[in-house]
Amino acid sequence: MTMNWKSKALLSLTIPGLITIFQACNHQPESANAVYEQKADSIIKLMTLEEKIGQLSLFTSDWDVTGPVMNNNYIELIKEGKAGAIFNAYTVDYVRKLQKVAVEESRLHIPLIFGYDVIHGHRTIFPIPLAQACSWDLESIEHSEQIAADEATAEGINWTYAPMVDITRDPRWGRVMEGAGEDTWLGSQISATRVKGFQGDNLAANNTLLACVKHFAAYGAPEAGRDYNTVDMSMQTLFGNYLPPYKAAVDAGVGSVMTSFNEINGTPSTSNAWLLNNILRKQWGFSGFVVTDYTSINELIPHGVAADSADAGKLAINAGVDMDMQGNIYNKFLASLVKQGKVSEKTIDEAVKRILVAKYKLGLFSDPYRYCSIEREKTEIMTPEHMTFARKFAARSCVLLKNKNNILPLSSSVKSIAVIGPLADAKQEMLGSWSAAGDGNKCISLLEGVKNALSPNTKIIYEKGCDINDNSTANIAKAVSAARSAQVVILALGESRDMSGEAASRSNIDLPGVQQMLAEAVVKANPNTAIVLFNGRPLTLTNLDAIAPAILEAWFGGTEAGNGVADVLFGKYNPSGRLTMTFPRNMGQIPIYYNHKNTGRPVDPSKVEKYKSKYIDCSNDPLYPFGYGLSYTTFDYSNVVLDKNEYTANDTIVARVSVMNSGKVNGEEVIQLYVRDVVGEVTRPVLELKGFKKVFIPAGQSVTVTFTLTPNDLKYYHSNMDYSWDPGVFEIHIGPNSAQTKMARFTLK
Ligand code: NOJ
Repeated sequence: MTMNWKSKALLSLTIPGLITIFQACNHQPESANAVYEQKADSIIKLMTLEEKIGQLSLFTSDWDVTGPVMNNNYIELIKEGKAGAIFNAYTVDYVRKLQKVAVEESRLHIPLIFGYDVIHGHRTIFPIPLAQACSWDLESIEHSEQIAADEATAEGINWTYAPMVDITRDPRWGRVMEGAGEDTWLGSQISATRVKGFQGDNLAANNTLLACVKHFAAYGAPEAGRDYNTVDMSMQTLFGNYLPPYKAAVDAGVGSVMTSFNEINGTPSTSNAWLLNNILRKQWGFSGFVVTDYTSINELIPHGVAADSADAGKLAINAGVDMDMQGNIYNKFLASLVKQGKVSEKTIDEAVKRILVAKYKLGLFSDPYRYCSIEREKTEIMTPEHMTFARKFAARSCVLLKNKNNILPLSSSVKSIAVIGPLADAKQEMLGSWSAAGDGNKCISLLEGVKNALSPNTKIIYEKGCDINDNSTANIAKAVSAARSAQVVILALGESRDMSGEAASRSNIDLPGVQQMLAEAVVKANPNTAIVLFNGRPLTLTNLDAIAPAILEAWFGGTEAGNGVADVLFGKYNPSGRLTMTFPRNMGQIPIYYNHKNTGRPVDPSKVEKYKSKYIDCSNDPLYPFGYGLSYTTFDYSNVVLDKNEYTANDTIVARVSVMNSGKVNGEEVIQLYVRDVVGEVTRPVLELKGFKKVFIPAGQSVTVTFTLTPNDLKYYHSNMDYSWDPGVFEIHIGPNSAQTKMARFTLK
């Protein structure tokens, strides 16, 4: 009889108690948290202090390293029981090799968790998360995470560092590409949706991933948009605008939480007992485990709250941080901190228990190789179904920003077409940042997508024009003559993929290099030009908007970007994306977001008045507002009708609107509902999104859409942090975007 990992491990084991624990584990119902806790307690009793601390230590393998390497002898650490989890290791072979060391060569044979940044797909890469949010399509978002989970688990991974749910109001910050944008309500829906997509109903299934919501908390609000920078905000803003998406993930059952690099009001998240033990665990009832971001414990020293590494470790563990990502602080210092009485062993035991319970939930104790199927690795990666979905999702994430004289969609029977620009033939760039195990060589570039969409009868001319961040205008002349020689032009502009993402803040968010000059020259040469943008953040496009006949914001669409964008350009798919982040007119308007306060001196656009809250050199309005996006058809909104004018505490508020597709082609509209609380105990935003419906409306037809709200949806944080609603007058605004709504008023008694 061949022996499996467990029989070998158990035979070599001298601790009799462990045999029953492991045996019993095979038959536990996966939802039995209490049973897992008991089992974990039994294991903890058998562990040395060093082995316990080992479970709290996470190390990167030497693949895909995204920060400083603190300790690269991870195989030794696994053997010695000093690593509880590994990240950046995937493929069945590699994961199996490392897992084998843990379960056969470490004293207690405890399996490892394998983590990875599966942010927008694993091998099949989907649009960047900001683009996905612009689809306003929760079903597709969830499905993309199911596919990501399927592919990642087929390569040995069982833990993803996603969803990233940081609300942000500053497009200079590079990581805006990784979140859902500026809105708290939408961000919360998307947060819960992603958790469901990754985790499914059963974490022990071999195709679901343990999710890790990040970066807790308020990482998206760094001063000046500079990554890792200080966060300082009022409690109302923190609780009202920034915390809800993390809470939504917790309510959706997320299994782990990652602390953020930043401080909030003077305390770094990684040493913030109030945030972790009080808010997250006590108030929100989170029962999973908390992991730091990459070397965040070590960073407590430069933050200036820890004197040395030992001090940093003490602060973190006592604040409620269970797992040390890559810092090697827990391994080095926790044991002596316990011996000195600075950290209690009970605190360590609780942290270990949370991690062991996660391992039970993942089914790792019953089969540590359950995510290591060679068969699945061969058959479940980049399948035709995954690619078809990726193409649709890339198209659904595009936002049409301008379309003068309906220049788009282009006719596919066009005789000649010039595809120009530094992003036109840029396969690798299509991945966007955080592209996991995605392979740029497998991406479809825009040029390829255009070729795939057209018959050989169309002449396709390609010219780069300039590099993405070029100083030289030398090649613009060639682009101009290509533009002149073609019937229509597609001009692909934007950022490189590494201009957004972690540590990629920009102090200037204009089109990089000489691209604006290229655009001006090309449009002058051929006014039949449609511009396609590939970028990871809102850009300042005022100058481009002034000259461009058409602009399609395609973000970074992933593996199938080129095909998806071509589907939109040639009218196979009518664009339905809407912005989830405001596009400013210029840098000086930042931070700019739709749900701002009114101030005591709001601008009345119909008057010229000096002493108002405004700029003397620019309007307050953005270039493109939150919720904005065009279609190849037009939609007309009826007035908003409420079922009553007055409501009381137990009522449901029902709002209706009819939307007519008044154009010639079928299309989808994102009907958005916003609320304004006219008089609050503290000042309230001018609008807050509280609902949306994405509906397909055939040409010439109209649909009536009903929204229901309850007074609970009108709650907010008062000056004493009481979360409740006030009686009074409210406005319901419904429309195609935050700047163009129709309004009805009601009174809540
Ligand atoms: C640092 C990033 O901030 C975080 O989002 C990521 O999960 C870790 N590195 C691991 O790669």
